[in-house]
Amino acid sequence: MHRTITDGARQQPPPNGIDCLRVTPSRPVPPLLQDARSGLLDRPRSMPPKYFYDHRGACLFDAICDTPEYYPTRTEEALLQRHAQEIIALVKPDHIIEFGSGTSRKTRHLLDACSDSDRPVTYWPFDVCEPVLRETGHALMQDYDWLNVRPLLGDYHAGLDELPVPEGPCLYLFLGGTIGNFDSPDAHRFLAEICNRMQADDCLVMGADRVKAHAVLHAAYNDAEGITAEFNLNLLEVLNRGLDADFDPGRFRHRAVYNDAREQIEMYLVARERHQVRLGALDCAMSLQEGESILTEISRKFSVESLQSMLTEAGYMLDRHYQPDNHYYSLLLARPVLERSEA
Ligand code: SAH
Ligand code: AVI
Repeated sequence: MHRTITDGARQQPPPNGIDCLRVTPSRPVPPLLQDARSGLLDRPRSMPPKYFYDHRGACLFDAICDTPEYYPTRTEEALLQRHAQEIIALVKPDHIIEFGSGTSRKTRHLLDACSDSDRPVTYWPFDVCEPVLRETGHALMQDYDWLNVRPLLGDYHAGLDELPVPEGPCLYLFLGGTIGNFDSPDAHRFLAEICNRMQADDCLVMGADRVKAHAVLHAAYNDAEGITAEFNLNLLEVLNRGLDADFDPGRFRHRAVYNDAREQIEMYLVARERHQVRLGALDCAMSLQEGESILTEISRKFSVESLQSMLTEAGYMLDRHYQPDNHYYSLLLARPVLERSEA
């Protein structure tokens, strides 16, 4: 993009936000066509949750965060607000790299703490949703004039080998309970990959949702206003565009249930009636029976023990565990266990 910088004037980011650095995948990730072929045509039907996040999906997720039923965001936000100063004092980061950063709304508490303690960090938000990365980068640069923002566009399932390795202590962030959207092997691989990048002074701060009363969990994924339903159904619009398909959202309903045995919310799109959907890009049609469902997301809920073992198995030691009085949520600060060579 061409910009003219006049003497003395502050450089203005382009109106649609700041540029993103594309992260080269370190291993192949299936494109939409392949995910759709295996996910929609094989049974049980499912799609990876990353496809929720086109621009509209990202906005709907943000709206979910403001519903009275969706406690994770405000719970995590309160923990960050309370402990940001301590986290920044402990880590003394020069860099903050955030995975699945979205609108970075809660990260602002950490940036405020950096501001207060005079730490001019570089912030590297990493997300799959380009418009949100660009807009958020722009907004952060307006609000924190000292902040260097370097948005990274990519898929964190594609490996982290090609991420920049900045000099100085780095705070890796993984907020929102998004680790719960990974199955157990993927969570292990992802956390171990972060750990393998880490130097002795680096830290991981991760948010994770906890097992709790089923009614609370059920309400969080079935808000009365129907925003979670809209978020789920928006996936069909993403598929229509990406696959030249003709999903009719009116012929599906949102379903979110807590699977007690697996300790996870499972979100489905359920066919209201028997019908066919054309998948132009795959040159075929799929037939759905009434009540047949597509799994669109798992959202795992953790105990203190399961969090502890997930971190230990991925190579971390837990340094701080912040939780609210009702134990609804965990904010964890973990450090890499570095192998010491024998003397
Ligand atoms: N961390 C924010 C947003 C959570 S929503 C919060 O706590 O509010 C999940 C975020 O992860 C979205 O911004 C989405 O675009 C991003 N995301 C989902 N799958 C991804 C993937 N495979 N690679 C990178 N980002 C992804
Ligand atoms: C991003 N992720 C942690 C959310 C969750 O709670 O699993 C996504 C979400 N799905 C429905 N509501 C929110």
